[in-house]
Amino acid sequence: MSERIRTFIAIELPEEVQHGLARVQGELKRSHPPVRWVSPEKIHVTLKFLGEIPAEQVESVCQVAARVAASAVPFELEAAGAGVFPNLRRPRVVWVGVQGDLPALHTLQASLEQELARAGFPKEERPFSPHLTLGRVQDRASPAEARSLGQAVAGLEVPLLGRWRVEEIVVMRSDLRPEGPLYTPLRALRLGGAAR
Ligand code: 2AM
Repeated sequence: MSERIRTFIAIELPEEVQHGLARVQGELKRSHPPVRWVSPEKIHVTLKFLGEIPAEQVESVCQVAARVAASAVPFELEAAGAGVFPNLRRPRVVWVGVQGDLPALHTLQASLEQELARAGFPKEERPFSPHLTLGRVQDRASPAEARSLGQAVAGLEVPLLGRWRVEEIVVMRSDLRPEGPLYTPLRALRLGGAAR
């Protein structure tokens, strides 16, 4: 059987924003909630999760991503605010919000979705909800622990952590390991008009 590669397409963050995310994690960690925290340097905005695909399809994903990127223009995003999925009473994922030029972000994501679907990759059924995942609640969390984490997030004031210009998107490989996923950039695709 051919090798399969867990693949996704993402927007990476500048260091300033990563530091801000680490501070937010630091505040939440004080009450030691049962959360698997994502290392700040691995936090990103996921545009498309492809899952495990045959290795020989990676090139076609990169080509579609390159084409979509070339027809987009750079835009600004911001990281601010915090929340949880699916709801504060039973949080599973803790995140910081993405703001700024959301219309440009949604257009880019929708183009990727559409062009990848034309190339034969299944469409995501859930609506796109851009976010920066700080951590995932562990399965062993009790309902009370989960609720109290929800309250902690609801009580957080997360100011603007940073603003950045999105000039490229990245096709990533994800290798799941017991100590956490290893993300390896496979190809960075410049948005049209981005400076080299
Ligand atoms: P998340 O940050 O919201 O959890 C790599 O796994 C990236 O792909 C993660 O950032 C994750 O988004 C995203 N992703 C989207 N759908 C996924 C799925 N069904 N399984 C795992 N990761 C998924």
